[in-house]
Amino acid sequence: MRVNRLSDALGAEVVGIDVSDPATYDFDAVHRAWLAHQVLVFRDQSLAPEDHIAFSRRFGDLEVHLSADHLHPEHSEILLVSTRQENGRYIGAVSAGDYWHSDLSCQRLPTSASLLYALEMPDVGGDTEWADMYAAYETLPAATKARIADLKGVHTFNRMRNPRVHVPEVHNDDAKMRYGERSPDDAIHPIIRTHPETGRKALYVSERFTIGIEGMDDSEAQPLLDELIAHQKRPELIYHHKWTVGDLVIWDNRCTIHYACRGFAPGAIRHLHRTSVIGDVPY
Ligand code: SIN
Repeated sequence: MRVNRLSDALGAEVVGIDVSDPATYDFDAVHRAWLAHQVLVFRDQSLAPEDHIAFSRRFGDLEVHLSADHLHPEHSEILLVSTRQENGRYIGAVSAGDYWHSDLSCQRLPTSASLLYALEMPDVGGDTEWADMYAAYETLPAATKARIADLKGVHTFNRMRNPRVHVPEVHNDDAKMRYGERSPDDAIHPIIRTHPETGRKALYVSERFTIGIEGMDDSEAQPLLDELIAHQKRPELIYHHKWTVGDLVIWDNRCTIHYACRGFAPGAIRHLHRTSVIGDVPY
């Protein structure tokens, strides 16, 4: 197995293993590389849903995503991230990743690892970006680090309560059910998170999910969140991934945020399978 860095910020490709065949890799080495590089790319993989699920389980228990109408029909552990339509309905989460976020930080137990596998890609566009939240924290001004040291962010799934995001047009008709009635309760998490495996500190807010700061009036909280959100997506923190069919990318949501860049033609098919590993209560 060889591990080649993909950017100055974060991300590495792992060469020489077949994810569907455990005999071709040492999982501890893969896990160490993942902790070190935060995002790993495995190219040219040929993964049946069972292979994808089996590899994902090596990282922990899998979660059935709360977008219940976008799950793989035979494997509920797989979320379909897809622009494909059947009978006039999108089969997958067409708007997944449209704002920077860490997966399901709106839950008490947010996702630790996400594993996204590309099955069909548009000719152009459809890229994804990841940003390094260790470096985001480390490069904050000392005064900001001190100011946020004991603060907690309020995270919600409900887009209708978040002025930084829009309800996607495709969900205009069912927004109340999808983002209101079905939303989990707000989750309250430290703004500076300690990674449970590396012990490093990471900035843990995002424009998609963080709507306030516990116990702080919005007149103070919103400008502070604006400052942190602008800081966390500076270009030098980012790895930009151009997908090829057969790519499996695994990322660590405890120390990264990500964004699906779009940029493909209307009607183009972009179809991926995603699994999510249940993480710990952030501290
Ligand atoms: C996601 O946010 O999990 C989806 C990312 C993507 O589709 O590129």
